[in-house]
Amino acid sequence: MSESLVKVEVRGRVGLLTLNRPKVLNALSNAVITELAVAMRAFDADENIGAMVLTGNEKAFAAGADIGAMAQWSYLDVYKADYISGDWDALRHIRKPVIAAVAGYALGGGCELAMVCDFIIAAENAKFGQPEINLGVIPGYGGTQRLPRAVGKAKAMDLVLTGRMMDVVEAERAGLVARVVPVERLLEEAIAAAEIIASKSMPSVMMAKESVNRAFESSLAESLLFEHRNFHALFGTDDQKEGMRAFVEKRKPDFKNR
Ligand code: CAA
Repeated sequence: MSESLVKVEVRGRVGLLTLNRPKVLNALSNAVITELAVAMRAFDADENIGAMVLTGNEKAFAAGADIGAMAQWSYLDVYKADYISGDWDALRHIRKPVIAAVAGYALGGGCELAMVCDFIIAAENAKFGQPEINLGVIPGYGGTQRLPRAVGKAKAMDLVLTGRMMDVVEAERAGLVARVVPVERLLEEAIAAAEIIASKSMPSVMMAKESVNRAFESSLAESLLFEHRNFHALFGTDDQKEGMRAFVEKRKPDFKNR
């Protein structure tokens, strides 16, 4: 039996997903994205999981879409197959938080995959870039849209047009990366962050994620209204009563996710 392209593990209330094509630096194929989408959807539906971590290995998070596979494709091949839609699109509809734990290369589709996650914790050896221009194409997994939202137009244009890589210092300074940690502590730190998220009240975590994402999808007025309504809605939960009561009583809240 062939080995799975994405390893799936459970650590407490955290779902851990590890890209598993080390020989090709975790190059992303349709099959990888499909496996990832299936595993993420399963964690999303699992009451025992509160957050996810997506990672690769020390050398590469993912070095992009599989160039070997794409090399001979024609316009009609990619158009008819609707390459990069379906399962890829499903990833952005995952409702529980997903942290990308990035070491080594996150290039092309790899950088785009990290950006689909809710935030990036990166190792000191991480390198980010959109080098598709060197192949005669452009980013196709959302890089031209998510990168400028993350780092601003100037740096996004620089990276997309020159195809250069940026190191983790530049990536953190630019706002692409939330935290930088030593390589050997990457997974531990990412899982610890996911565990903290998973210990909160799930309805508030999911509405917080939805509300932040709304900032990129809508006008300020619409997004503020969306945030207000989510804030109001959380007063309908037991966890809001518990969270506020626990603060007043100077104890830790015991959330029941309802
Ligand atoms: N697709 C397929 N195979 C890949 C790959 C990719 N994106 N990236 C690396 N590999 C393979 C290499 O071909 C090599 O295989 P062999 O051992 O069989 O030769 C193996 O992984 C190891 O890679 P290197 O020998 O090249 O390793 P290196 O340390 O010398 O260089 C690297 C590392 C700079 C990341 C280099 O591999 C590289 O430039 N990779 C391609 C990066 C890239 O262009 N990504 C964009 C892809 S297009 C895309 O993603 C489109 C999109 O947005 C949808």
